[in-house]
Amino acid sequence: MTMSITDITDLTQHTIVDFIGSIFDRRGGEEYLGEPVTMGEHMLQGATLAKRNGQSEDIIVGALLHDIGHFTSEFGMFTMQDTKDRYHEDAGAKVLERFFPKVITDCCRYHVAAKRYLCATQPEYMKRLSDASVHSLKLQGGPMSETEVREFEKNPHLDTIIAVRYLDEAGKEPAMKTPDFWHFAPMVQRCVDKHFAGKSD
Ligand SMILES: [Fe+2]
Repeated sequence: MTMSITDITDLTQHTIVDFIGSIFDRRGGEEYLGEPVTMGEHMLQGATLAKRNGQSEDIIVGALLHDIGHFTSEFGMFTMQDTKDRYHEDAGAKVLERFFPKVITDCCRYHVAAKRYLCATQPEYMKRLSDASVHSLKLQGGPMSETEVREFEKNPHLDTIIAVRYLDEAGKEPAMKTPDFWHFAPMVQRCVDKHFAGKSD
């Protein structure tokens, strides 16, 4: 599959999944800063673990796409003000919200917030974090305050967001083998179709 870099407004319900797949194919091998896996491996591991655990399609696809914001230059959304990895969760959510149900977009938009939430509410959680993730936690504001925790808990998709965050931590295994993106593509398409059918919130 060769698709060239495009503008997000050129993508449709029928081309978005192929396009995301082409990003995995072309750029999945890029470094995931400070982690022993590539970006593609990281997202595929989360999705693979979720599937193995029998978790919902929302969780599987949420895990698969949560770091898509590392590739927003692909969607014609790069600006010179962007710095590496800065607000990649917001950038990713902006891409996804056009094509995916809100629950999946929220898994992306709040995956950093979920880390801050879990560190605030479960003291043990910090031990799960990789060194790189502990380092970025500081840059991301550290654990949430009580007020932030209460606000975050209002999100109707909290459980799914948290489930994806656990997969984010788990998907950093250098030895793990996974299927490639195309294994998940029909499932990703089902999520897109649900969004376009107006059957998602
Ligand atoms: Fe991640």
